[in-house]
Amino acid sequence: VKKIILDCDPGHDDALAMTLAVANPAIDLVAVTTSAGNQTPDKTLNNALRMLTLLKRPDIPVAAGAQVPLVKPLETAPEVHGETGLDGADLPEPGFLPQSLPAIELMARVLQESTEKVTLVVTGPMTNAALFLRTYPDLAREKIDQIVFMGGAMGLGNWQPSVEFNIFVDPEAAKIVLNFGLPLVMVPLNVTHQAQITKPEINEIAQLDNPVAQAFVGLLNFFERYHEDPKWGFVGAPLHDPCTIAWLINPALFDGVDVNVDVETTGELTRGETVCDYYHLTGKPVNTKLLLKVDRAGFISLVKESLASFG
Ligand code: BDR
Ligand code: CA
Repeated sequence: VKKIILDCDPGHDDALAMTLAVANPAIDLVAVTTSAGNQTPDKTLNNALRMLTLLKRPDIPVAAGAQVPLVKPLETAPEVHGETGLDGADLPEPGFLPQSLPAIELMARVLQESTEKVTLVVTGPMTNAALFLRTYPDLAREKIDQIVFMGGAMGLGNWQPSVEFNIFVDPEAAKIVLNFGLPLVMVPLNVTHQAQITKPEINEIAQLDNPVAQAFVGLLNFFERYHEDPKWGFVGAPLHDPCTIAWLINPALFDGVDVNVDVETTGELTRGETVCDYYHLTGKPVNTKLLLKVDRAGFISLVKESLASFG
């Protein structure tokens, strides 16, 4: 069983990542920390609490992270995730309170108390992760086995031509995390744009008779609408963040390469671009397992089985 801390900005796909983690016995979700990204930090925190209430897991500690990115002003994505950050379903109000300590202190507590190493999964901007690594570098090296993150791309962008949203929001934080020296697994747009869920598949989820699956029908239909714009060329909605958890559960669903990845923080057109050294041109050390392919059918089966498990 893999212990994970999920640092997220829920967010439709973050909520599904959290749900996969709760549903699968291979994963022990030991804490949730929230970042500012898809919505303002008050909303992403509230959404994490609402989701864990829906999932009947008020025992999982939740803590609020940084209010703003390290350097840039905060930019959110209401056009993708709505005004609440989780539009499309009537989620329960939070049935419990967040921890009274900040995200990086909850991370520290969890790691100090753990006898085994913990995986840090980041599905939002990397602000909290960067602050944690800078504040507790020794604890991080001792107790974090790897950082698995959804973010960036090799040669693609979804917010700017070559910039993905999570890295766009806090490029300086991403640069700190990528250059820290812990093993990284990167789930880029190249993979998540393969991990599309189609309308007929959402309709199959509608057949599942449990409140978690029913909530996701509304959430996924809302999320799907943004991706119907023909500019994307999609047949469904890309389930970005759940790919991180799917990789931890079943890495055989993915193919990847071991490369150096760094982040551009000063480019006129490319601030926030992840620079993936596919051909090892720089001689910089390999720091990242860069995932490039996913078995879509296998991934969607995992999503459906996870949602069915709440019945
Ligand atoms: C990422 O941005 C957010 O909108 C999603 O939750 C995901 O983490 C995709 O670019
Ligand atoms: Ca996210």
